[in-house]
Amino acid sequence: MATNSIHGMWSTRLAFILAASGSAVGLGNIWRFPYTAGEYGGGAFVLVYLLCVGMIGLPIMMAEIMLGRRGRQSPINTMRTLAREEGRSSAWQLLGWMGIISGFLILSFYSVIAGWTMAYAFRAAGGWFRGIDVTAAGDMFNGLVGDPERLLAWHTIFMVMVVLVVARGVAAGLEKAVRFLMPALFLLLLAMVGYGIQAGDFGGAVTYLFAPDFAELQGKAGEAILSAMGQAFFSLSLGMGAIMIYGSYLKGDASIAHNTLIVAGLDTLVAILAGLAIFPIVFANGLAPDSGPGLIFQTLPIAFGEMPGGALFGALFFVLLLFAAWTSAISLLEPLVAWLVENLSFSRVRASVLAGITVWLLGIVCLLSLNAWSEIKIFGKGFLDLFDYLTANILLPLGGVLIAVFAGWLLSRSSSVDELQLGEGLAYRIWRLLIRYVAPIAVAIVLLNAIGALKLTGLG
Ligand code: TRP
Repeated sequence: MATNSIHGMWSTRLAFILAASGSAVGLGNIWRFPYTAGEYGGGAFVLVYLLCVGMIGLPIMMAEIMLGRRGRQSPINTMRTLAREEGRSSAWQLLGWMGIISGFLILSFYSVIAGWTMAYAFRAAGGWFRGIDVTAAGDMFNGLVGDPERLLAWHTIFMVMVVLVVARGVAAGLEKAVRFLMPALFLLLLAMVGYGIQAGDFGGAVTYLFAPDFAELQGKAGEAILSAMGQAFFSLSLGMGAIMIYGSYLKGDASIAHNTLIVAGLDTLVAILAGLAIFPIVFANGLAPDSGPGLIFQTLPIAFGEMPGGALFGALFFVLLLFAAWTSAISLLEPLVAWLVENLSFSRVRASVLAGITVWLLGIVCLLSLNAWSEIKIFGKGFLDLFDYLTANILLPLGGVLIAVFAGWLLSRSSSVDELQLGEGLAYRIWRLLIRYVAPIAVAIVLLNAIGALKLTGLG
């Protein structure tokens, strides 16, 4: 078994935690979690989300890191090597390919949204938010989204940023950045929660997020559960090989269970904090929690516009969010770049540029679907929404089930005992129970139910 990856290794144990939480914490926590929770009425969704993180996300994250560290290559080659070693079909490498496709689709729209945060950083700094009200904030957002040239400019800048880091090598580029920026984002988020306590409807937000009202899910429970599960995969960066490849750069003696708990815990904490920062503003200003992907861009400017020093805080907030998105985006491109280097002997630079250009082109399709192509609908969704739905709710969970089945059923027991280093005590047995039964069955039920619902509505 290789003890090192040809692509480099994390220099310290902390570096893995930083990189993996850099991947996990991103737009998924601060942009996607609040508006998705808002679409499904808050507390009941949050409860299902937390269950999904604990019962499905944690064991699958451990499995991904474990497989990555054992394979020490890009997800495609890791799966091929491990399948061969365990005497399984080489078709398992298709799991790696599916992950590449998911990563492409996710990054193409992720980059567009990251572009929004860049635009908003400049707007905040320029004082655009001063004294802004709900209507003006809505108009400002719609103005941006309706302007393909602006969106293209920001999307292009973001993709260049991503390619620059990936081309340098993830370990070299990423470690230093995440060390300072993640704590800074965390502190600023805490400050925003403080603002919500002082100036917003904090009590309303707490009730909304933590007092589950299952009546909210009436008639859309299946869809809500699917979305909560999809959000868990998306937010934890699971199901496509991103965490797997980060695991492949992890040293042999680091504890996988420990690292997983820290990364998943941080990720969940940031999502909850984001909810506690945004919903007090939503309720204090009479905004609709279910106003969709524009939610944070239509609420936070109001708060920054009212608070003293709001231009500075606002700019800082969106810049830090941009960095969080950057460290996530890197992990979406890395599996493919590693594969191009391994199998086609591309240089890292060439591989990154090629992958980046492909995603950039796909991103143009996404950003046009917000304006010029808004009439084009597939399954009732524009391209951006479609890519988001298809990846988070279908491809990532599907990848997750396959990872669970491979790690729980096809990898020999002795291999997983050896790699997880938990001994064969209670912790190991709980993991094995979750990865063999709970996670795959739960995901399969939710997915099959969703397919059934699709058929009923005549879309399938
Ligand atoms: N988890 C990131 C976020 O919440 C997005 C992300 C990065 C991701 N890498 C991923 C999502 C891999 C799914 C799979 O913003």
